[in-house]
Amino acid sequence: MPLRLILIGPPGVGKGTQAALIEQRTGAKPLSSGVIFRAEIDAETDLGQLAKRYIDHGELVPNGVTIQMMLKRIRSQEVRSHGFVLDGFPRTVRQAEALTEELENIQVTIDAVVSLEVPEDVIVDRLSGRMGCTKCGEIYHSTNKPPKREGICDKCNSPLFVREDDKPDTVRERLRVFRDNTKPVIDYYETLGRLRHIDADRPADQVYQDIVDGLV
Ligand code: AP5
Repeated sequence: MPLRLILIGPPGVGKGTQAALIEQRTGAKPLSSGVIFRAEIDAETDLGQLAKRYIDHGELVPNGVTIQMMLKRIRSQEVRSHGFVLDGFPRTVRQAEALTEELENIQVTIDAVVSLEVPEDVIVDRLSGRMGCTKCGEIYHSTNKPPKREGICDKCNSPLFVREDDKPDTVRERLRVFRDNTKPVIDYYETLGRLRHIDADRPADQVYQDIVDGLV
């Protein structure tokens, strides 16, 4: 059976890192709303221009366009047959309700909703050292996971970049937005009895193991 997971957690907790590990080891496709928005920004589409106005300030992109963009991908046959790992969506209760309704309509069941949790000072450290590959998206960290050659991706030799929204002021705003808008999503899944809490303040492989161990 294809794996279907939702990863929830604050900025920098390691959602993208875990989604990549899960894809490598199970084949389930990462569906990251942030990655999709950044691709739209790079391609200078109308959606990208709209999203950039919010992302650069650490604010949420409006629910309507975000829900439409993500549900379209969840409906796709490729994603449904390989399974998926949602990373960064849903991020508001309105998005969570829309997702629940869509999954019921297409008769898809989620295997687990995982809340990744670390203290706020760890988040600030993780984001201040993060670098990503401009081509394949591999995620690095200056001390926790440095590339073999400075500024170059180990996997595809492309240059690494630092995200605009990882500036300290924007990170503070993203944390505020998480507390106000996304913590209620955690409560939403808790109430539905679907949530697992995972301590993500450990090496990425151990966090991965906890996620998959809880699936059996
Ligand atoms: P998005 O791209 O989703 O950003 P985010 O949720 O803030 O999460 P990040 O990508 O910053 O962190 P992550 O948890 O994936 O951590 P990572 O694995 O990189 O969203 C960006 C923006 O888009 C939002 O602010 C918003 O404007 C908009 N947006 C997106 N979705 C939206 C939605 N649904 N609705 C409305 N707007 C939306 O790890 C971080 C660092 O830590 C890395 O350097 C990594 O190497 C390191 N690390 C990871 N795990 C570990 C570990 N276990 N130990 C040590 N280091 C680790």
